[in-house]
Amino acid sequence: MKKPIRVAVTGAAGQIGYSLLFRIASGEMLGKDQPVILQMLELPLEKAQAALRGVMMELEDCAFPLLAGMVGTDDPRVAFKDADVALLVGAKPRGPGMERKDLLLENAKIFIEQGRALNEVASRDVKVLVVGNPANTNAYIAMKSAPDLPAKNFTAMLRLDHNRALSQLASKAGVAVGDIEKLIVWGNHSPTMYPDYRFATVNGESLKDRINDAEWNANVFIPTVGKRGAAIIEARGLSSAASAANAAIDHVRDWLLGSNGKWVTMGIPSDGSYGIPEGVMYGFPVTTQNGEYSIVRDLPIDDFSRERMNKTLAELEEERAGVAHLLG
Ligand code: NAD
Ligand code: LMR
Repeated sequence: MKKPIRVAVTGAAGQIGYSLLFRIASGEMLGKDQPVILQMLELPLEKAQAALRGVMMELEDCAFPLLAGMVGTDDPRVAFKDADVALLVGAKPRGPGMERKDLLLENAKIFIEQGRALNEVASRDVKVLVVGNPANTNAYIAMKSAPDLPAKNFTAMLRLDHNRALSQLASKAGVAVGDIEKLIVWGNHSPTMYPDYRFATVNGESLKDRINDAEWNANVFIPTVGKRGAAIIEARGLSSAASAANAAIDHVRDWLLGSNGKWVTMGIPSDGSYGIPEGVMYGFPVTTQNGEYSIVRDLPIDDFSRERMNKTLAELEEERAGVAHLLG
């Protein structure tokens, strides 16, 4: 039997938590032979703690063979103690008419506190995925608040955007979603993101050759993917939850278990590649192996792409400047 992996999940009694925890406990994230200990954090409000107790009762009632232990708490230092993986989901979601960056100052405090707690008590190799919005800047804040942990272990979720883009492309080209590879979503998890299928292939052949439609790319594909979160809020009255949990599982699974040569999109601190200043938490194409990611290098960037990549970078820099005073 393998040693259990400690997985911390914040906002565990929220919408995404409810779609996420049961899949982690059933082995969908870390493997069907990998025991896990779930360390769940919720706000210290009676309602939130009661809801968390209910979720834990349900987890118990599933009798998952891989669930080797559970902790429910309102203290980040308990939730993150020795954590190998931390999914930072808990934050306020946006409502209709808001942009994700409208949540910036409200949610920033959470990620400062949680970054500090991770710094103090988590495993020195903890792998952190930030889901709570605005995800890139929150991940940047947590990273900056945890100076003793490797900066590269802080990541933001762009996998939902990647998956959304895959489905839009598959439907436009009339191909199976699983046959598409080499897709990228550059930049921020916001409407400025740049889904880029210039290098995408279907069964090894160029997808761009099949969808040779610049007008569709600029006026339909890019905005549809960029505004999908808002479309879901409009339709459901609540932000995406099951698809977000699914993307978080994809992100962590590929990071820890490897992407087998496939490109995936992760929000990671830039190493200066593609002219993105070092440290900016930006969506890049990566491959993953043995728990490490590597940026796909030397892709040509045309004028259209450079303009989009700069626009989403400018927004991230603006968000970063907006929280600089909080980071000291
Ligand atoms: P939700 O309101 O249903 O749940 C959030 C939970 O977090 C609540 O139970 C709340 O009590 C808890 N919480 C709030 N602050 C906390 C804190 N400091 N510590 C611990 N728990 C805390 O929201 P949701 O739908 O689950 O969404 C959570 C976040 O994920 C939102 O910010 C949302 O915008 C974001 N999101 C991101 C993506 C993405 O692709 N990056 C996708 C969907 C949603
Ligand atoms: C999403 O993309 O669905 C989430 O980030 C929620 C939101 O606010 O759009």
